[in-house]
Amino acid sequence: MSKADLLREVRVEGLSEAQATRHIEALREEIRRHDYLYYVLDRPEISDAEYDRLYDRLKQLEEAFPQLITSDSPTQRVGGQPIAGLPSHEHATAMLSLESVTDPDQVRRFDERMRKAAGGPVHYVLEPKLDGASIELVYEHGRLARAVTRGDGRVGEGVTENVKTIRSVPLRLHAAHHSVPPFVALRGEVILYVSAFEKLNRKLIESGLEPFANPRNAAAGSLRQLDPRITAERPLDLLVYEILAVRGVSFRGEDEVLDALRRWGLKLPQKIEMGEGLDDIMAYHAHWAAERDQLDFEIDGVVVKVADLALRTELGTTAHHPRWAVAFKFAPRKEVTRVEDIAVSVGRTGVLTPVALLRPVEVGGVTVSRASLHNREEVSRKDIRVGDLVRVHRAGDVIPYVVERVPEPGRKRGEPWTMPERCPACGAAVAERGPFTYCPNHFGCPAQLVGRIQHFAAKDALDIEGLGQETSAALVERKLVRRLADLFALTPEDLIPLEGFAERSARKLVEAIRRRKKVELRRFLYGLGIPEVGASVARDLAEHFGSYEAIMEASREELEQVSGIGPKMSEAIAAFFEDKRNREAIQALLDAGVEPTKAPRRLQRPLDGLTFVFTGGLERYSRDEAKRLVESLGARVASSVSRKTSYVVVGADPGSKADDARRLGVTILAEKEFDALLRKAGAGR
Ligand code: IVH
Repeated sequence: MSKADLLREVRVEGLSEAQATRHIEALREEIRRHDYLYYVLDRPEISDAEYDRLYDRLKQLEEAFPQLITSDSPTQRVGGQPIAGLPSHEHATAMLSLESVTDPDQVRRFDERMRKAAGGPVHYVLEPKLDGASIELVYEHGRLARAVTRGDGRVGEGVTENVKTIRSVPLRLHAAHHSVPPFVALRGEVILYVSAFEKLNRKLIESGLEPFANPRNAAAGSLRQLDPRITAERPLDLLVYEILAVRGVSFRGEDEVLDALRRWGLKLPQKIEMGEGLDDIMAYHAHWAAERDQLDFEIDGVVVKVADLALRTELGTTAHHPRWAVAFKFAPRKEVTRVEDIAVSVGRTGVLTPVALLRPVEVGGVTVSRASLHNREEVSRKDIRVGDLVRVHRAGDVIPYVVERVPEPGRKRGEPWTMPERCPACGAAVAERGPFTYCPNHFGCPAQLVGRIQHFAAKDALDIEGLGQETSAALVERKLVRRLADLFALTPEDLIPLEGFAERSARKLVEAIRRRKKVELRRFLYGLGIPEVGASVARDLAEHFGSYEAIMEASREELEQVSGIGPKMSEAIAAFFEDKRNREAIQALLDAGVEPTKAPRRLQRPLDGLTFVFTGGLERYSRDEAKRLVESLGARVASSVSRKTSYVVVGADPGSKADDARRLGVTILAEKEFDALLRKAGAGR
């Protein structure tokens, strides 16, 4: 049978164990190949839907032949059960740390020492120093045997089940181009991308839980979860940079090591370079210092390693670190400074955010004088008061925030800070929602109006150049703008007296505003600042409904027809349009001449917005056919059952998905009912 035949949908019932083995092996190999293309090389060759189909087929076969399941099957990445505690493991060899330096002079002395030992110029491997959690991966005969945290360097904690959820980690080393050793222990770093870290923290804060201080702590915390299913939800990655110990293979230079790591299918840090001498080291360091804010992962320096492995052996190690490498760190992005006051800022949505006003301090090359304290509960949890010494952190483009208070024993502190009872911008009595405090005076509060104007003019909204925070604030303060619609009545004469405006710039802004009267519906919708509606939801709504009138009149059920809109969003959207004041504000915009252009309406299909899951064999349709049919009618097909699933179609010999459906109360369709539903949609047999 050809490979393509082995990958195709099969009827499980008729298969012998030997036949099933061949299908299973082929599917696993294919899935591993696509995992590698997607997670390691970032170069996928098939769509997510095609991948899901391969995965579902394998899952189905393994459900029918459970005796064929092996621990390195792609289906076993998220199979682990919660455990009571993490086991201890001794490392293959001690996991040392690196000597850190920050001063270029220290690097020069390091290079001198290396040249002296080598008796000539030295080749270095230059790598970014990833700021994550260090990990040991042990492969025995090519199979991932265990993953162990660094611990105290000699003994760490076994986190194998959790590391298996990281899709860039091969469960088996690739053997095709390079012999796989009977034993190899690797060292790498587990990281959490900054974007994922921010999302995770937002979720934690919203649920009233303690956020992580930085991506490194979040990565380490996720890695040490006792329930691998929680780890699986965090998009961790693992980059390998060293061989700790190996049997059966030998290497001369680090270039050979890195080459072997790549061929075994491991993911390495980007842009590892070879260099010679001090100049290359300095240039590499300068490059990453400038680049680090653009990266989606944190690096805190660069690592300089002697490339020649014989020279490494000759130089040896101290008790703590190798003598052949050095971490050349960047200026820290955490600094200590004093809180001079705590102010409260009111944003577009009315949320009151406490902001620490700081004695200005340079943090990683940027002067910082304000830092967010998130919300009321964060201030009391960290117990930050006016006059305290605090540690401030700045990561990437993120707004700086206060990490913690630095205790000063014996110093008399100020009073505990409390949230004001009235909105500092409009004086309305504030209300509380979970850990958040907000001003309920949505339409009368000038601070919220300033935020709304900025949002209305933002890039993804009307994209009005020259209407930023300062101008918005001045317009509100001078009472030139009391509602969004007033923007369109502004004249150059109104603007000229404002700070920073002259005749030409005033004309330019008025013209820029006027030009945006005709605006795409998705931009208009996003600009309204409907709770829960970001730029992409706004686009989906615009495409689905075609006009703002249709959206305004849509019921919650109709809104939920749009893919990606669930009950929470539909409620927020419906509530927004039900509010008389919002309707008036929109009407005023239309009266002022704003004209949202109709979006091309996407063809409505009978099963739009529904999600199907299939389990077991159907008589009249192959799995592929059934999937293609429902997809062509607008539905989505998922590989696992959740509360959001609309229907689970159950055929002969169903798997655990049928139980999942019953447990979650999802509607189950037998083949006959499924067929009837398709016929009603115009496609059944
Ligand atoms: S080499 C014996 N290379 O930095 C050499 N370490 O103390 C051991 N790190 O906790 C480390 N990126 O986890 C090396 N490219 C890199 C690294 C790196 C990050 C971490 C490592 C260790 C710390 C150094």
